[in-house]
Amino acid sequence: MKPELKPTNPNFSSGPCSKRPGYDVSQLKLDTLGRSHRSALGKETLAKVCSQTAEMLGLPEGYRVGVVPASDTGAVEMALWSMLGERAVDVLAWESFGKGWITDILKQLKLENTRCFEADYGKLPDFSEVDFNRDVVFTWNGTTAGVKVPNGDWIPDDREGLTICDATSAVFAMEMPWQKLDVVTYSWQKVLGGEGAHGMLILSPRAVERLESYTPPWPMPKIFRMTKNGKLNEGIFKGATINTPSMLCVADYLDTLNWVESIGGVSAAIKRSQDNLSVVAGFVAENDWINFLAEKPETISNTSICLTLDAEPEQVKAIVSLLADEGVAYDIGAYRDAPAGIRIWGGATVEASDVAALMPWMAWAYEQIVNQ
Ligand SMILES: Cc1ncc(COP(=O)(O)O)c(C=O)c1O
Repeated sequence: MKPELKPTNPNFSSGPCSKRPGYDVSQLKLDTLGRSHRSALGKETLAKVCSQTAEMLGLPEGYRVGVVPASDTGAVEMALWSMLGERAVDVLAWESFGKGWITDILKQLKLENTRCFEADYGKLPDFSEVDFNRDVVFTWNGTTAGVKVPNGDWIPDDREGLTICDATSAVFAMEMPWQKLDVVTYSWQKVLGGEGAHGMLILSPRAVERLESYTPPWPMPKIFRMTKNGKLNEGIFKGATINTPSMLCVADYLDTLNWVESIGGVSAAIKRSQDNLSVVAGFVAENDWINFLAEKPETISNTSICLTLDAEPEQVKAIVSLLADEGVAYDIGAYRDAPAGIRIWGGATVEASDVAALMPWMAWAYEQIVNQ
């Protein structure tokens, strides 16, 4: 039977992700538009982005937060280009984006003393083999595999190298062990449902020490430069961005932060995301034709929820199209490099009631396409 109830909001994309409940673009505070980002108002607004983020995330003393160009990719590459090469590197990857950082390190930076630990979609590499005397590069949540790092217990507090973590689909949706992480990056368009364009770069005091004590042998484009005369350019972490940001995107980001605050802060955002995963987990438990791509329960992502179906890849595509045509779910096909399947975003901006409304539609679409 075709379900009657449709999700109120059919946006389940894994990036840009759904806007928050109640989002209204006309309500954004736009007094910065048309003004210089270096005016007192512009700088104050950008400084607020940094300070409000640090406060809400509960960053430890001495950690810096900066707005940087080019979204999460910009933030990660800025860190890789500025900090790597001082010592050997271990890099871990289990899906498309992590593999992209391997390409950067091996093929672009050409760092020879590098060990790669790769795992297939659905699995994590063996963390016990990682050497923390080296710099360690990894993704917290593999957005295209739906496999997350369950905790930071495998990272020692007394490490010699730096930990550089791409956490774009984790920050504000998962507990982050900040003391174990020296560089953390994320973008506004994921868990918070903000806009693309800018990245967030979080640095520990040890990461800052690296920047001030090491100069890489390769040329550094202006948009990657974080030091001036051997000292950290502190301005970047107080709102004096390297180049011109979109103040419209900034206003949108501050709206998302205020929303998170209004629902009870980061812990409430994490709970909303976990509730979304619980809905899907209940459905998976009741239906033997659908499974999580993640093999171990503790690694199942609560943001990018990746599912495999007992169906041919063309049938999966047909299911995804049918659900979009019915207006019940947009953009839920697996990432182009990942195994065929469905990926439902479960970050904080998605309502559990909408995920619940989608589930019977998935069963219906599967019946239509596969069991006809
Ligand atoms: C884990 C991960 N890293 C990097 C990116 C690239 O992000 P952006 O487009 O914000 O640069 C994504 C985007 O989905 C991602 O999921």
